[in-house]
Amino acid sequence: MKKSGFVHARACANIALSKYWGKSDLELNLPAVPSISMTLDGLVTKTRVRFDESLRADLVHLDGREASAAEARRVVELLHRVRGLAKITSYAEVHSENAFPTAAGLASSASGFAALAAAACKAAGLDYDEKRLSRIARRSSASAARSLFGGFVELPAGKPGNDGLAAKPLFGPEHWDLRIVVAVAAKGPKKIGSTEGMERSRHTSPFYEAWVADAPRLSQRVKKGLRDRDLDLLGRAMEQSTLAFHACAIASDPGIVYWQPATLAAFATVRRLRDEQGLSVWATMDAGPHVKALCHAEDARRVQAALKKTEGVLSTLVAKPGPGVVVRG
Ligand code: DP6
Repeated sequence: MKKSGFVHARACANIALSKYWGKSDLELNLPAVPSISMTLDGLVTKTRVRFDESLRADLVHLDGREASAAEARRVVELLHRVRGLAKITSYAEVHSENAFPTAAGLASSASGFAALAAAACKAAGLDYDEKRLSRIARRSSASAARSLFGGFVELPAGKPGNDGLAAKPLFGPEHWDLRIVVAVAAKGPKKIGSTEGMERSRHTSPFYEAWVADAPRLSQRVKKGLRDRDLDLLGRAMEQSTLAFHACAIASDPGIVYWQPATLAAFATVRRLRDEQGLSVWATMDAGPHVKALCHAEDARRVQAALKKTEGVLSTLVAKPGPGVVVRG
């Protein structure tokens, strides 16, 4: 075990092109559907970890402040699993910072748990490759399993009990020069967390089974669109994946509605750019109100300009395919 000094890791956020929504195993945090993502350059979480026998408890700092009890709980759970694997008992000191552009409006749990898994394992003396790190990150947040890898990444559906499930890289960042244009549609954190939302959908949405049954087909189409660099094919499947998952969530009891007026307006802008200006641009959303538009690099400025003037959109940013996790120390 490394006794002194921090191990540093950095990982990027990712955006799902075909969505993960629903779990086949809550305890092991296994997704019920396959998902495919693009890792986003520049939206980075930097995390440093050290284990120290003289510590009396785990210390967790996020963005320069002490973590709340709820935030620290998920970090400590990951540290416990790493201690078990490394057969050590010392507590750890963790500092994590999001170098996200201000008001990015993007969740940091994917990049956060990917960077934490990488830094904590190395600091505990575990020399794991990305695949093993991806499994560990998955237990904390399944979308984090994808952020270990750069470019375009797949997380298959998990069979209940299969704790070996990890994400796998499909294509590197150089495969295709796409852009994600983020339109921030509201301030503040999301109202219903993903885990809670997924479980409510599973138990109460009449559309849940239909969503789970059709998601593999959409994921296959996204993969084919990626492989053939066919943005129309990829984009259509991506939009259907996001609309199907939201339809499933909206029909839950009580309904989970992440949409805001600006979300609909941004969707309409994307559609107008497609129908009236002939751009291949497609929209997706996660468990929040922000719209992410996927387009070719050469169209990104036009897409950004149109989203910027869309009513209710607070800010925009553009991201290209980014790298996988980097560890040092
Ligand atoms: C809508 O990975 O945040 O963004 O595994 O419960 O932590 P947990 O969920 P999380 O879910 C992300 C859901 C999504 C779609 C996606 O990223 O695939």
